[in-house]
Amino acid sequence: MQTKGNTVFITGGSAGIGLAIAKKLAAEGNSIIINGRDEERLQNALKELPGAVGIQGDFASEADRIRVADELKNYHSDVNIIINNAGAAFAYLLSETANAHEKAKIEMNVNYIAIIHFTELMMPHLLEKEAAAVVNISSLAVYGSHKFLPTYGATKAALHSYTMALRYTYEEQKNVQIYEVYPPLVNTEFSAEIGGADGIPASEVADELFW
Ligand SMILES: NC(=O)c1ccc[n+]([C@@H]2O[C@H](COP(=O)([O-])OP(=O)(O)OC[C@H]3O[C@@H](n4cnc5c(N)ncnc54)[C@H](OP(=O)(O)O)[C@@H]3O)[C@@H](O)[C@H]2O)c1
Repeated sequence: MQTKGNTVFITGGSAGIGLAIAKKLAAEGNSIIINGRDEERLQNALKELPGAVGIQGDFASEADRIRVADELKNYHSDVNIIINNAGAAFAYLLSETANAHEKAKIEMNVNYIAIIHFTELMMPHLLEKEAAAVVNISSLAVYGSHKFLPTYGATKAALHSYTMALRYTYEEQKNVQIYEVYPPLVNTEFSAEIGGADGIPASEVADELFW
């Protein structure tokens, strides 16, 4: 699809991979709408993205997802690409926690359920566009297990399975493309606890996207 002239909404676009993608797509001539939970962080990120718009919202919250989708459809109806990037991960050891299931629930909600819900809310809008895309930020964790991220990989594997199903569902609709991005270890705040400083820069993920 065209990499210019789109209106792109990025969940978790105020830092890390999401912000790097926002900067890259803005530089390529796309209109950008970013999201994050923390309003101040969102405003700071917007200073680096002249002309971009911010929509505060917590994608762990069903009500926020509905509100953000409504805001996009009502006030930013040009939006034709959604990038489901916001994610959650807990770095811990199964042997040292008594509440792994609570952590897994939070991870699964943000990394999987939220994406299914938000995509469902936005798909009718995207299908009306001449060209549209859903981009899910998955992870290389889809393909392996990690001792220090014991319940995260399965949520990305679930996202991978859903993304494939979404692609099969809409394969006849040539105007909507479904993409999945599998970053390796990336140097962001998210990965700090698991040695993220050794990872690739977030800008490298953005450089590989669509190109
Ligand atoms: N870093 C890695 O090594 C790596 C590798 C593979 C895949 N990934 C995936 O890449 C994605 C982005 O990770 P990152 O490393 O860029 O993280 P990051 O640097 O921590 O940035 C996360 C961004 O998402 C926002 N955010 C977090 N939770 C949110 C929520 N519930 N609702 C809305 N916004 C939320 C944060 O802002 P607020 O805190 O203000 O909400 C921030 O803008 C995640 O899905 C992650 O699983 C990361």
